[in-house]
Amino acid sequence: MEKTIVVLPGDGIGPEVTREAVRLLETVGERFGHTFHFAYAKLGGVAIDETGTPLPEETLKACLESDAVLLGAVGGPKWDRLPGPQRPEAGLLALRKALGVFANLRPITVYPPLASASTLKPEVVDGVDFVIVRELTGGLYFGPKERRKGDHGIEVSDTLVYSEQEIERILRLAFELARQRRGHLTSVDKANVLESSRVWREIAERLAPEYPDVQLTHLLVDNAAMQLVKNPRQFDVIVTENMFGDILSDEAAMITGSIGLLPSASLGSGGPGLYEPIHGSAPDIAGKGLANPLATFASVAMMLDYGFGLGAEAEAVRQAIARTLAEGWRTADIAAGGPALSTEQMGETVRNALR
Ligand code: NAI
Ligand code: MG
Repeated sequence: MEKTIVVLPGDGIGPEVTREAVRLLETVGERFGHTFHFAYAKLGGVAIDETGTPLPEETLKACLESDAVLLGAVGGPKWDRLPGPQRPEAGLLALRKALGVFANLRPITVYPPLASASTLKPEVVDGVDFVIVRELTGGLYFGPKERRKGDHGIEVSDTLVYSEQEIERILRLAFELARQRRGHLTSVDKANVLESSRVWREIAERLAPEYPDVQLTHLLVDNAAMQLVKNPRQFDVIVTENMFGDILSDEAAMITGSIGLLPSASLGSGGPGLYEPIHGSAPDIAGKGLANPLATFASVAMMLDYGFGLGAEAEAVRQAIARTLAEGWRTADIAAGGPALSTEQMGETVRNALR
């Protein structure tokens, strides 16, 4: 297989973790006989410094023409005083929009050797392995907003708007994902109160017969928030509206207790997906070789899986990460004061496990 991957190293620790991720992909290519072409482009602060804009035309063009996009992270104190639309983060939001990535996937995996890294009890988090699918380009964050003068002071509204097509495509993506995993889909809504949730539920019920191998469950969002910390092992795939997903995915991230391990994928309808660690540019540790590259490696596994349909290769990457951790290798963020590898050494260790 031959694929072109646009690499956007970005700012801070972004270049450090993406460098190791590219090396990892090269090792995947060697072991499984694939050729990955890497095209480097600028996004975020580094793009502002060189071109005056966080998302240059040529970066966008390269991304749209690629098979997948791998991003480090953007932003940092150097650009913090710029007005909103000129900031590094604006480049990332514009890129997500231009790629039409309406589904944000965040897998929540607890590696057994790190079960005690969570603030929850090890017996609650051990073996947790689920994915949150958050609708990313519609819902409450994108509906009409208004602030007006009323009889009793300001009147204000945010509107939760979805079309049937938007709901159906995110649900289908989640059904497909559940089918590839353990066959359980939990659709989270607020159908006891919101009309949009009732329609969401109706559409889910209409689609369900097309996925007889998937068991569909509905859960109200407030109960979902409780279940996530009470018994997170019950979940396989969770699908939900934009704001519900924003809140629940941050809550779920804390089940693992470690930001340096968590990947994400943003997918659309067929175009290139965007794969990135959930952490930021970590300016406090940038340039010191302290960054944990495993979140970016796990994002690479998602690219192989969802972007290229290379399930065995993705599993090999995940196994290499799991084995490295099981053997006791740690970067500083997860070493609990013990001996730690540098970013580059961790990269080399995982590549060796993969070989
Ligand atoms: P952050 O995620 O960059 O850092 C939070 C803490 O976690 C820091 O102490 C950092 O050292 C640590 N950390 C993060 N990733 C790590 C890794 N791979 N290995 C070891 N330790 C790691 O969040 P923060 O500090 O709020 O934001 C820093 C900058 O990043 C800001 O400019 C922010 O806007 C930007 N940001 C960018 C994102 C993106 O590009 N998608 C997402 C979140 C923040
Ligand atoms: Mg959030």
